[in-house]
Amino acid sequence: MTKRVAILISGSGSNMVALAESMVGDHPARPVLVVSNLPGAGGLGRAEAMGIATAVVDHRRFAGDRAAFEAELARVLEAARPDILCLAGFMRILTPWFTARWAGRALNIHPSLLPKYRGLDTHARALAAGDSEAGCSVHEVTAELDGGPILGQARVPILPGDTPERLAARVLPMEHELYPAVLRRYAAGDRTPVFLP
Ligand code: GRF
Repeated sequence: MTKRVAILISGSGSNMVALAESMVGDHPARPVLVVSNLPGAGGLGRAEAMGIATAVVDHRRFAGDRAAFEAELARVLEAARPDILCLAGFMRILTPWFTARWAGRALNIHPSLLPKYRGLDTHARALAAGDSEAGCSVHEVTAELDGGPILGQARVPILPGDTPERLAARVLPMEHELYPAVLRRYAAGDRTPVFLP
């Protein structure tokens, strides 16, 4: 049975595009919905151009009431009957109520070599620490921010003169390779981690 995938975004949606473009042919899943918490997210137009249904649940409408925001987000998502949820550049922290609903069937991409540098500004922190490499991770979503089981990682070298922007530009293409590779296995029920390169 082909798995139905919903994707949560907040921004340009480049990871969403990489996921959606990978779900063709013998892939065990198909994208059914892209949801953004921001009406102006560039990824919405990209999803529509790919013929994927989109929706907006603007978190600002809920004036900080996380429970009300998440109840509406859950309602919109569940109307599409997804089997798997992929967070792709989604910048809202989800409560245990929401993560429990998706336990064992939700993934997130994070631009660091977890468990290092959970949260924001990951590349600047790796540079400030004098690390020799950086990267990205795909993990299962749990109540612990960026803390769920790691299902994939991709590494890149940190080079002399690197800035957070240059490092982000080196890591992002690896995200676009790693996330689809993990999703393909995950949708087939295979939790064997993917390591790149
Ligand atoms: C990516 O680096 C992702 O890891 C992070 O946000 C960035 C935005 O990606 N969470 P996208 O182009 O919106 O997918």
